[in-house]
Amino acid sequence: MTWTRKHLLTIEELSAEEIMLALDTAASFKEVSTRTIKKVPALRGKTVVSLFLEPSTRTRVSFELAAKRLSADTLSITAQASSITKGETLKDTARNIEAMNADFVVLRHSAAGSPKFLADRLNASILNAGDGAHEHPTQALLDAFTIREKLGRIAGLNILILGDILFSRVARSNIWALTKLGARVTLCGPTTLVPAVFRELGVTITTRLDDALCEADVVNLLRIQHERQRKTLFPSTGEYSRLFGLSRERFRLTKPDVLIMHPGPINRGVEIASEVADCPRSVILEQVTNGVAVRMAALFLLNGVQNRIAQGVPPETLQPRENSVSPPGESDLVADATA
Ligand code: CP
Repeated sequence: MTWTRKHLLTIEELSAEEIMLALDTAASFKEVSTRTIKKVPALRGKTVVSLFLEPSTRTRVSFELAAKRLSADTLSITAQASSITKGETLKDTARNIEAMNADFVVLRHSAAGSPKFLADRLNASILNAGDGAHEHPTQALLDAFTIREKLGRIAGLNILILGDILFSRVARSNIWALTKLGARVTLCGPTTLVPAVFRELGVTITTRLDDALCEADVVNLLRIQHERQRKTLFPSTGEYSRLFGLSRERFRLTKPDVLIMHPGPINRGVEIASEVADCPRSVILEQVTNGVAVRMAALFLLNGVQNRIAQGVPPETLQPRENSVSPPGESDLVADATA
């Protein structure tokens, strides 16, 4: 399997084989971050611009680290520190960034579809770092990577996604990735936040949290996305926590080898008890570690396609096997001697 995409916009559009290629590529890059010199030359001379128009800690920092570890030049723009506060549009901001010859734009934006909007208008490769409640593809890839790394497989696992599904881009991208890879995905949360229409994505919906916890191999918790809710969809945070929070008592219902996951930021005492967040079954910080490897993989694969196009191969003729990008070879993983 080889990679032919110039942009990473959604998990929905990826095949299971493409997702597995991204995970295998990330596995090759994970070791780089454990070296004394955490750098390989794969993106030397390339420029990666992070355009984060919504707050972020994990995604912004790990994309920046990933780009630096691939030897790219990086810069980061946030909404508050940009001319967007003076009324400049997203398109104009991005076109100005591209006029400075950026090769990659990593975009986080509150509007669903904004990465596609830029991909249709710019020459740079666009990476979706979260667009509204739509998708967060690299989060789903790092979640799938972590599950495969810890449990050895994804197909056939029972994966419970618990919390605010309706407003969660993480939930949507996870559902696409995990169902494509053969997992059984169950959603649980307040009925107002878990609409029945999600069944069309091939998942099970339940309100029987205790039963779902007993059966789960993985519990992926989501926080309440207050920033996207325009009205109150449940009585109070306290009631949410009592009915749907993963308390110490509820944690006792889970399998002994269950994985506890959360994309972060966590709200201790709301969707997850502190003791559960910090217990040995929690892989929340390992997810963060794996995020760097997954984002290195995403940049590496897109860069390979960019290089093919620069060599004169028209994007529409990029075909698997002939002109597309394979996982990193030994030369891609040699330490950058100039670092
Ligand atoms: N998981 C995640 O997207 O976290 P940040 O908002 O901190 O990037």
